[in-house]
Amino acid sequence: MHSTKSFRQMKEEQIKIAMITGYDYPSAKMAQAAEADMILVGDSLGMTVLGYDSTIPVTIEDMIHHGKAVTRGAPDTFKVVDMPFMSYHISLEESLKNARKLFQETGAQALKVEGSGEVLQTIERLVAAGIPVVGHIGLTPQSVNVLGGYKVQGKDQEEAQRLLDEAEQIQSAGAMAIVLECVPRQLAELITSKLTIPTIGIGAGAECDGQVLVYHDILKYGVERLPKFVKSYVDSNHLLGEAVASYVHEVKSGAFPEEKHTFTMDEGLLPKR
Ligand code: KIV
Ligand code: NA
Repeated sequence: MHSTKSFRQMKEEQIKIAMITGYDYPSAKMAQAAEADMILVGDSLGMTVLGYDSTIPVTIEDMIHHGKAVTRGAPDTFKVVDMPFMSYHISLEESLKNARKLFQETGAQALKVEGSGEVLQTIERLVAAGIPVVGHIGLTPQSVNVLGGYKVQGKDQEEAQRLLDEAEQIQSAGAMAIVLECVPRQLAELITSKLTIPTIGIGAGAECDGQVLVYHDILKYGVERLPKFVKSYVDSNHLLGEAVASYVHEVKSGAFPEEKHTFTMDEGLLPKR
């Protein structure tokens, strides 16, 4: 399995880090079989598997429930679990308690937190306690209502400088890696070159040290509209949708089940009618 050290080494050797989200046993199993370097149990599960329209309703209990399933599916892959909305903002003490619970109960190798500022001391304390932390800046979905929507971050000079500063502060706080979401590739490239820890981009161009995408987006599974930065490798909505419709149709028409799907017995042994 990878470690914080081997990810840093991958950056040094310019070997790309492939990360994918996973939310349950089959998605985790698939990611491990594909030899993904890292699985992110993202709070995007609020949208992809729970049907909320943002990550804001997601709870610690949701993350633990899904994180445990991912660990069962991918015991040998490095797993990062998101700390959900407001689970690391009320007080340092509460943040540490929530982190302990998430880390111990899911069996993950690292936790991820969004933002900088007040979050920096939480990162420091978690790392001091032995919990590797991944940072996340740029478009931080837990702050969507403050940011004013899901849009590219860091396009003007002031914002670009702020994001670079945040990235450096997160590295100084002890983070093992940092997710850059929805930032112009030029800025992501600059941040990547300034940091010694790996950058994992999503909508941040090809110069990042790694890439992360959402499992359901890659598979076009249960999602309708996809952001510009997503590449889908299969249309599961279509493929799986047709399969499910065929099953329903065949049950109604009597085409399923066939003889080969059926058990039989000696009719003489049947109770009298
Ligand atoms: O929750 C998530 O899936 C994420 C990634 C998109 C980085 O945080
Ligand atoms: Na997330």
